[in-house]
Amino acid sequence: MSSNSSLKLQLLNICKLLITIIILNEITLVTVSGVEYYTEKPSFLPSCRIYEPGFTKCSTNSIQKLINQLSIGIPEVLESFGNFDPMRVRNIVFKQDNNEVATIRANLTELVVKGYSKTEIKESRVSKKDFSWQTKLFLPKMRLDGKYKMNGRILLIPLSGSGNIFIEIENMDILMLTKTRLYEKGGFTFYNLTSLRVHLNMTRVRTQLDNLFNGRSKEVERSTNQFFNDNWRDFYEALRPLIVETVESILLEWLSKVFHLIPANFFVEDIPTPQQLYGPKATTSNGS
Ligand SMILES: *[C@@H]1O[C@H](CO)[C@@H](O)[C@H](O)[C@H]1NC(C)=O
Ligand SMILES: *[C@@H]1O[C@H](CO)[C@@H](O)[C@H](O)[C@H]1NC(C)=O
Ligand SMILES: *[C@@H]1O[C@H](CO)[C@@H](O)[C@H](O)[C@H]1NC(C)=O
Repeated sequence: MSSNSSLKLQLLNICKLLITIIILNEITLVTVSGVEYYTEKPSFLPSCRIYEPGFTKCSTNSIQKLINQLSIGIPEVLESFGNFDPMRVRNIVFKQDNNEVATIRANLTELVVKGYSKTEIKESRVSKKDFSWQTKLFLPKMRLDGKYKMNGRILLIPLSGSGNIFIEIENMDILMLTKTRLYEKGGFTFYNLTSLRVHLNMTRVRTQLDNLFNGRSKEVERSTNQFFNDNWRDFYEALRPLIVETVESILLEWLSKVFHLIPANFFVEDIPTPQQLYGPKATTSNGS
């Protein structure tokens, strides 16, 4: 085995370890304390009816309008989360101790994600059966910038450093699968988002970690970064759980806020009431 391929193997193992650690520290969601909600349909939303032809086309346009409005700024959402694009993301902390292969701690802070405002909604399907969603989105470019601090050892490689990090993803296709539970508030039907999963494809991932190895070896730092970029598919495979979790968590947080704020009736005018969909028993035992 050449020293190059053994370095490659070690770096891949490092990535895989990082992922496991990050998943264990999965970000918990901020609870949304929404007392206010819209009682009039915002003018930016078109009217769509699910029991009439052409709903998916209408709904696709409606969700696109929502994204556009999020970029401009919806006051109640801005108040809770700040800007949509660029978006601040909370810190990610991960650590793994006393493993045979590695001991590592790392933090990502001052995270800012850019690119969401360019989101294109390709298709927004809503199930008539359970009002779950299947949404296809496209992001031409998403870039995460921040600071990282890393301390540890993997095999014989000391992987310590701190500095700037960026991860840039080009041409990302997102398939978003969302489960919902309808609930009633003030005579309106609302969506409660109960689960959100994404599948991602992209054409390229670029990354840069500055000051890796605390600047002691610029050459190893350069070749490590080069390695990540030359082998971005492997790098992405290793990082995928982190990226997927981050995207899911951001989407769920934002969409939950929006859909506790804007009644489902304003997206689907002829949406059934929870009673009509689940029957009277289900709604009372659910007790919202
Ligand atoms: C990461 O942050 C935690 C708490 O904020 C801190 O205790 C820990 O030392 C930090 N780790 C590194 C590698 O800086
Ligand atoms: C990703 O690509 C695979 C293979 O081409 C395809 O089957 C899948 O539907 C794509 N997923 C998304 C989210 O575009
Ligand atoms: C939404 O669903 C969660 C469980 O997924 C539940 O804890 C919460 O009370 C529900 N909210 C409303 C308003 O129904």
